[in-house]
This record gives sequence, C-alpha cells and structure tokens, in this order.
Amino acid sequence: MRILFVAAEATPLVKVGGLADVVGSLPKALSELGHDVRVMMPRYGVIDAGRFSVATAIDDFNIRVMNTTKSVSLKVTELSDGGKVYLVDSADFSGSSEVYGKDALKRFFLFCRAVLEILPKLDWQPELVHCHDWHTALIPLWLKRNDYHYASLFTIHNLAYQGPFDDKFLSDSGLRRDWQSRPANVPEPPLNCMSQGILWADMVTTVSETYAREIVTPEYGERLDPLLRYRREKLLGIVNGLDYEEYNPATDPLIPANYDCSTLDKRIANKLALQKQAKLPENAEIPLIGMVSRLDEQKGLDIVAESLDFLLHKTRAQMVILGKGIEYYHGLLKQAANKYLKQLAVVIGFDNALAHRIYAGCDMFLMPSRFEPCGLGQLIAMRYGAVPVVRRTGGLADTVQDLTQNLGEGTGFVFHDYDSKALVTAIRRAVDAYQEKEAWRKVMQRIMALDFSWQASAKKYESLYYKTLELKGYAKSQSAVGLSRRFRRD
Ligand code: GLC
Repeated sequence: MRILFVAAEATPLVKVGGLADVVGSLPKALSELGHDVRVMMPRYGVIDAGRFSVATAIDDFNIRVMNTTKSVSLKVTELSDGGKVYLVDSADFSGSSEVYGKDALKRFFLFCRAVLEILPKLDWQPELVHCHDWHTALIPLWLKRNDYHYASLFTIHNLAYQGPFDDKFLSDSGLRRDWQSRPANVPEPPLNCMSQGILWADMVTTVSETYAREIVTPEYGERLDPLLRYRREKLLGIVNGLDYEEYNPATDPLIPANYDCSTLDKRIANKLALQKQAKLPENAEIPLIGMVSRLDEQKGLDIVAESLDFLLHKTRAQMVILGKGIEYYHGLLKQAANKYLKQLAVVIGFDNALAHRIYAGCDMFLMPSRFEPCGLGQLIAMRYGAVPVVRRTGGLADTVQDLTQNLGEGTGFVFHDYDSKALVTAIRRAVDAYQEKEAWRKVMQRIMALDFSWQASAKKYESLYYKTLELKGYAKSQSAVGLSRRFRRD
C-alpha cells in the first residue's frame, strides 16, 4: 500500500511531544511490512536546514485562505534510514520559530488547505491518507467534500487539544458551507477542527484500547463524546509502540553506561551519575523516582504537588523531575526543590539527553496522569528497567499490570483513584518494595524483557488500512485493480 501520514510533528525533524515519536517511527515499522509510507508536515523555521537537505517537489503556487493569497511550495527530504518526508513550505511556517504558538489555528488551516491542493499534483499517489490530531483534522472533511478518491484515517493522540474556533472564524474562513454539509442525524459538532476528523474520516483510531473506550463517555469525551458515540463502529484503539532502536539501553549514546537485562549491575553507574548531575546525594541505596513530563493537570501535576510534602517528609526517596508546562507548576516545583535540597531536583525545559539519563538512572518512573491516551514514558521506562508507578487510565492501564504483593507477578505499581492519597499509597508501596533487593531485580528483568516494539501494532494498522480500502470500494474502482490484486492475500 501507499500511505501518506499527515501530521504537525515527526522525529527526527521536529519534536514537541509523543505525536512526533509515533509519526517518526510507525512509518518505519510499516515499511518493514512492505508498504510505501511517507510523511507530510509543515516546513518549520526550526528544522535544522544543515542536517536535512531539501529538494523541490512542487514549485510555488498560490492558494486563497481567509481572503488572502498565500504562496506555497512543496519540498522533500530523505532521512538517513531512507524515509521520505514532504515539507509544505509557506512563510507562515518557515518564518516562525514556533511549532504551535498563538497563530496555530490559522497556520494549520492553511496547512490543511495546502495539503488538499498538493495531493492531486503529487507525482507519488497514496491510496490512503492517515491524518493525526486536530492540526490535520479538516483534511478528511475536504477529501469528502471534494470527492477525492483517497481513503482517510484519523488518529486521535489527545482529545483535549481540539483546535477550537468561534462563529466568526467559520464565516471568515469560508468553512461554513462545508460545516453545514453534515447529515441531519449527526450530533451538533462543537466548533473545533477535531470534530471534523472524527466525523468525516473513513476510520477513526486512538492510541490505546482503554482510551478508545473512555472517550465515548462524558467523563473523558471532552464534549466530543456524542460525536464519538455516533462513529463508534468506526472507532478503534491501537496501542503505540516504541522505536526500539532509539530507546535501547544497550546502545544508547546519551547515557553514561550501557547495559541490558543480563548486565544490570552496570546500571548503578547511571543512577550515581544522575544523582550527581541533579546535585542530590550520590547513594545507590536511596530509591530514586524519575518524572519526564509536560507539567500540567493532564499529567497529574496537581496531585503530585499535593503529595510532595508528605512524600519527601515521610520517605527518604529522591525525585528528579524534568519538563515544562504551566508556569504555576514551574514555580511550585522550584520552591519545593529549594526546600528539599537533598531530595528533589527540578529541571524546567526540554532536554532529550537528560530525559534518557533519567530513564536509565531512576528506580521508579512516575506517571500519575488524569488521562493518558497512550503514554510513551512508561514504555521507555520499562525498556530501561525503571519500574513504572502509574494511574490506571488509557494506555497506562493497557501497558502496566499491577505488581502482586511479593512482586512475583506484574510490571508496575498501579493506582486507581485520581487523588493524592492514592498516589502516595502507590509510591509508598514502591519505596517499601524497593528494599526487597532480589525480588526488585527480577521485576527489572521482567519489564526489560517485555516487547513494546512497533511490530504488533504495525500489523494492526496494516489490517485496518486494508479494511478501510475495501470499505471505500477500492477493489472495484478502475485505478485500483492493481492494488486490489496486491492486497488480496489469498
Ligand atoms: C499524546 C498523548 C500521549 C500519547 C502521544 C502519542 O501526546 O498525550 O498519551 O502517547 O500523544 O500518541
């Protein structure tokens, strides 16, 4: 199959969050299954021009958006692993150092329009267009409205970010007519881009089975649950995998000491190095809790903040927190770090090297999310032998099994209620269990041996793509005769 991924970010070009990891690594896993998968994203000013050289795929052309004329072109770059990435080039993206920022709605509106114009001009024609998150969610709508033959798939990585707009935008952008084209029995969509991906894509997926079940409820549905229930039969959860080449403690160049399941003793050097870097007492015996996260309520920062005093008072655990998010939590964490100099280190910002060092050096990895579509941190942590402490929600529920009391079975410490009491209880369980040296070591070996690579999930996407194409009647259309022969495997 020929599949085009359309997304706002992708490793190794630009990464803000987990979306980039998925768009960067799933295409590789699919090409290993024999498919031709390419990525299309904006050409941001922050993309390292020295590292990724580009060629022109489509010369400048004009498009009309929001009553102005914009000049757009298409570039293409080839990655070192052979992957091809198309970069939609327009001054709105290349002229700014931000990926998202305050003009995100207008910029991604332009991006979606540009993708629509580019598709028929492209010398490589996909059968399926796989769109990710709200930034690309108008594409499925316009593919339908313009009778394009491409099949479309829309993946929700996080329902909380929807690309909202007001009634004025609906008029100014010329979107109103398309907006009103929905069938009469469709629930009224809230005014945002995300709703259109959910409504119009041939298939809708999200990044774990549990999250797929959660988002059809009002509690997790972010006001899109009526629409999601309406499309329930076309909604599916497929858990994300991890790029096992990038995240491999045996070869990772970003950590002080490489190790695997059979050389766990070497891991201690990473712990001591992390303690040193974090200016905490260097002592292998003290349990060290790590957190790499966006610092906001989704990630559980409110209950972490509420628990800190108790935790650092009542246990001798150390904590290293790395991330960025809401100013309020930056201030609060920095204050706590000043108070608990010997126990808490906080680094505000993105730092990929430090993130790897935390995964490789901490004993426990904390993810107390209020909701979590999939979560990659817990997968990386397990790969690196850090035992996850997580709330039972979304992808965390699907990938971490609660440890039994004697640590004989299970893969992490799981709590259910979203409150600081439940969080503290889980951490205390972890800190106590850490004293059981032999049993703990076995847990580390067990979680490091789990397989969270993309292989299994890529196969699930593959069969979903086939199903989507069949649904679309691809096998019958003239242009797809060759395709249908190829994808019929009997
Ligand atoms: C979003 C979600 C996260 C998921 C990631 C990749 O960042 O919040 O749970 O792992 O997308 O799908």
